[in-house]
Amino acid sequence: MNANEMFKESIAHKEKFWAEQADKIEWFKKPTLILTDDGETYPTWFADGELNTCFLAVDKHVNDGFGDQTAIIYDSPVTNRIFKYTYSQFLEHVSKFAGGLKKLGLKKGDTAIIYMPMIPESVFAMLACARLGVTHSVVFGGFAPQELAIRIDDCNPKAIITASSGMEVSRRIPYLPFVKEAITMSEHQPEHIVAFDRKLLGNRVDFKNDSSLVDFEKLMTESEPADCVPVESMHPLYILYTSGTTGKPKGVVRDNGGHAVAMKFSMKNIYGVKEGETFWAASDIGWAVGHSYSVYGPLINRNTTIIFEGKPVGTPDAGTFWRVIEEHKVVAMFTAPTAIRAIKKEDPEGQLIKKYDLSSLRTQFLAGERCDVATLDWFEEFVGVPAIDHWWQTESGWAMLGLMPGVEDVKIKRASAGKPIPGYDIKIFSEEGYELESHHEGYLVIKLPLAPGAMMGIWGDPERFKFGYLAKFPGYYFSGDGAIKDEDGYVFVTGRVDDVINVAGHRLSTAEMEEVVAAHKEVAECCVVGIDDDLKGQIPFAIAVLKSGSQADEKILEKELVDLVREKIGPVASMKNALVVNRLPKTRSGKILRKLIRTMLDAKEYQMPSTIDDESVVEELQLKMDEYKKKYL
Ligand code: COA
Ligand code: AMP
Repeated sequence: MNANEMFKESIAHKEKFWAEQADKIEWFKKPTLILTDDGETYPTWFADGELNTCFLAVDKHVNDGFGDQTAIIYDSPVTNRIFKYTYSQFLEHVSKFAGGLKKLGLKKGDTAIIYMPMIPESVFAMLACARLGVTHSVVFGGFAPQELAIRIDDCNPKAIITASSGMEVSRRIPYLPFVKEAITMSEHQPEHIVAFDRKLLGNRVDFKNDSSLVDFEKLMTESEPADCVPVESMHPLYILYTSGTTGKPKGVVRDNGGHAVAMKFSMKNIYGVKEGETFWAASDIGWAVGHSYSVYGPLINRNTTIIFEGKPVGTPDAGTFWRVIEEHKVVAMFTAPTAIRAIKKEDPEGQLIKKYDLSSLRTQFLAGERCDVATLDWFEEFVGVPAIDHWWQTESGWAMLGLMPGVEDVKIKRASAGKPIPGYDIKIFSEEGYELESHHEGYLVIKLPLAPGAMMGIWGDPERFKFGYLAKFPGYYFSGDGAIKDEDGYVFVTGRVDDVINVAGHRLSTAEMEEVVAAHKEVAECCVVGIDDDLKGQIPFAIAVLKSGSQADEKILEKELVDLVREKIGPVASMKNALVVNRLPKTRSGKILRKLIRTMLDAKEYQMPSTIDDESVVEELQLKMDEYKKKYL
């Protein structure tokens, strides 16, 4: 079957198609119910199956005789270390760490937060949770303690698993102190903090004098291995928080069964990777890409995966990706376009690329944000392998648009994120819910059911799930993105239609930033918009109006606002710009005209909105912006 036939089959004969895919993984109890869909409730997959994701990712390969194959390569240019773990070694670490967690009382149905840098122990922790049926929630290290506290209060972890520190290029990130700070802010108090002491980085953990801490390494080495606990297919494997249109992040819940089937299917068909090969997704495990393609996908498919602790540039230079590809014989790689833009900026003529033998690399995959054509062209000119853009979200956990080099020779259309992937019946809708013809921009929606592996819901908030994704167009999932389809079925994603922005491939909420800025004691009202950025795609920009009578110095206040977002949300927000103005442009009903502000900041042409209350605000704002840009941008 070619990709088109496969897609058609997946929609016309859903149950048959996915039952065949489900046969490709090992179940403890094979599902007989493939799709449960009464047309009323959100459809589910493989409801009566039982399995264990850790078994599929680790034990199975050792049982099948591949214990000597490398499972994980830890490549850390920031600490100058490369370690390898075979599947047998991996099994030993994971099963013993699971034994340790079990000793602490963690069991199926509990939750645990993992707040760790890119080290193999983070993967051991994820898999150990999966082994016990403990639902993990990995929190990205670039988030500040307050963000961690919000997640602690939302998913009530029995344990937090962390490390003493991480390394961002040459800056030490104090993970454990951040955890402690977060716990002082959260209402929920975890029973255990398990800390991995990164002796190498100094800043040692004082386990002797701090009885609140459990030593990760000791727990792992001194515990008996724990067996895999069979879980129902729909048992939550993990919760991954992502930004929405309100200040509160939402915990996307992923199942075990559908997820495992989707991972296996995608590794083979979308990424075209065979068992035993090395696959590398250069993403942090704190993001969906890191979950699916640095950890679960390649491990379930018995690939060698790379845990990379570094950046595309500066660790030590813009050749580091090419060095990793050559050294570990990577056959397919996955990163965000922003990483390629960062490399291109440092090495525009591709001099560093020439230093390495990239003959192992068959395909480059890009996602996380729209990929500009110039970046694609540069990549193909200097690296010389196809760069395939594909579109997905934390919610789906795997690609919904893309191409399938595992199935056929692909035809890339620049600027398009590809065609619908099997299982995702993608349509472009008008505001009124009518399907638009090709070449008309509209909302990207997906007819239910979504494919296996897509989100089960939002942790603890079924109403938000219904309201946010399912209510706008009944029977369809609303993605929050706009898009255009062409006559060949290729889809061009035009960007978010809500207040979510994408900064260096990281999804962030402007509403959340607005809450932080508005909380400053001098601020009367504000708005945060995403403006265009050559490197990061978008960056946030805050505009604030001060309370009347405020004597605050505008320049000092602007800096305070930037610092506040960094302190409350974290450096990952990349907030660098804030501007104090006298008034914000609004509609007659009092709504801030965010789109107009964004367009003005991007120096694009705009039309005066007919709903504007007072046109003179725009002129005033333009002067302020011009002054600011001259000085700082
Ligand atoms: N822990 C602590 N801080 C972190 C962090 C982490 N894990 N990750 C990022 N940060 C900090 C950075 O140090 C930076 O701080 P600064 O403002 O003090 O310099 C800030 O958060 C912003 O980080 P980032 O947006 O990553 O910017 P950068 O300039 O350090 O790097 C890129 C830019 C493009 C190289 C980098 O963003 C990148 O590699 N992006 C790829 C994104 C990706 O992999 N996405 C998911 C896969 S689809
Ligand atoms: P995240 O949940 O962090 O993966 O972010 C998902 C969002 O990133 C999507 O809703 C899109 O707005 C954007 N996105 C992801 N991949 C692409 C892509 N290939 N092209 C355009 N936008 C993308």
